Amino acid sequence: MDELTLKIEHLCSGFFTERGYVPAVDDVSLEIPKGKIVGIVGESGCGKSMIARSVMGLLKYPGRITGGSIQLAGKELVGLKDRQMQAIRGCDMAMIFQEPMTSLNPVQPVGKQMREALLLHKSVDKKAARDEVLRMMEQVGISEPEKRYVSYPHQLSGGLRQRIMIAMAMICKPKLLIADEPTTALDVTIEAQILQLIRNLSRQTGMSVLIISHNLGVIAEMCDSVYVMYAGKIVEQADALTLFDQRSHPYTSGLMASVIDLEAPVAERLPAIGGVVPNLLHLPAGCAFAPRCSRASERCKTERPELRELAPGHLCRCFEGGNA
Ligand SMILES: Nc1ncnc2c1ncn2[C@@H]1O[C@H](COP(=O)(O)OP(=O)(O)O)[C@@H](O)[C@H]1O
Ligand SMILES: [Mg+2]
Repeated sequence: MDELTLKIEHLCSGFFTERGYVPAVDDVSLEIPKGKIVGIVGESGCGKSMIARSVMGLLKYPGRITGGSIQLAGKELVGLKDRQMQAIRGCDMAMIFQEPMTSLNPVQPVGKQMREALLLHKSVDKKAARDEVLRMMEQVGISEPEKRYVSYPHQLSGGLRQRIMIAMAMICKPKLLIADEPTTALDVTIEAQILQLIRNLSRQTGMSVLIISHNLGVIAEMCDSVYVMYAGKIVEQADALTLFDQRSHPYTSGLMASVIDLEAPVAERLPAIGGVVPNLLHLPAGCAFAPRCSRASERCKTERPELRELAPGHLCRCFEGGNA
């Protein structure tokens, strides 16, 4: 059996609000073998970031993990104290966000920020830490690292800032890198370079990656396996090739159609998925996707489908599954 870097079992996370409990992540199980890249895809609001934040121990009030288990290289994270999570965060696992400006300190040169991240977790002296930072900057493709070391975040382009974030996340050689929409704010050329960089770093170092995106194109190109999420639940999971060739859930097909769409002439574009994601406080009685699904039957409107195995490793939450 493959060694697992991350093993999430039956994770539930949500928000306790005045209007009730919002089940943002509902019974999600997910595995990342060592050295593999796994993707989560789904429209905005379906719970992707909540999974990332649950793993990192970064849920903000009133958000909370309400059930399940998260193991990092065999170590249970659910229930750890903040102090214990802090020691793991940035060291054994690290995260990069969509907008690097929100996680970089605007008044400190980027090199120094990276050096401090390293000094926090590893017992090295300042000189060795500086050398390691410069080496890491080179590894993520930053030219003239000495010059960049003393630059402030606002002096760098969006692409360079994201490279700095990746270097900072990688500085302690984490077992797991979580990238939450890492390229959404970048133009397509830079996006491709950053994704390539993450993939190469994973290959070179054996680091596992969880990459999150609303763009199935990004996910399919990068990942070994893919989880498709809708309204807090996994609705389909498979290796990337199977998902491309034998996708079964109508929602996955819809996401795929909108990717192909972008390259097609306007006149040939397929209709995007109509309707909007449901309010988590008032989920439909049956399948959460049924109100938007062209293939929904009466059963879909009244009964909730379970995740079913269509083939080894290929799971789908749809009564119609297997014949999309
Ligand atoms: N403070 C909050 N209170 C209640 N619900 C929230 C809060 N923050 C986020 N949510 C809900 O949690 C769900 C999941 O959000 P999120 O994980 O950010 O989605 P994604 O990353 O897929 O866009 C969304 O439906 C959102 O409306
Ligand atoms: Mg998000």
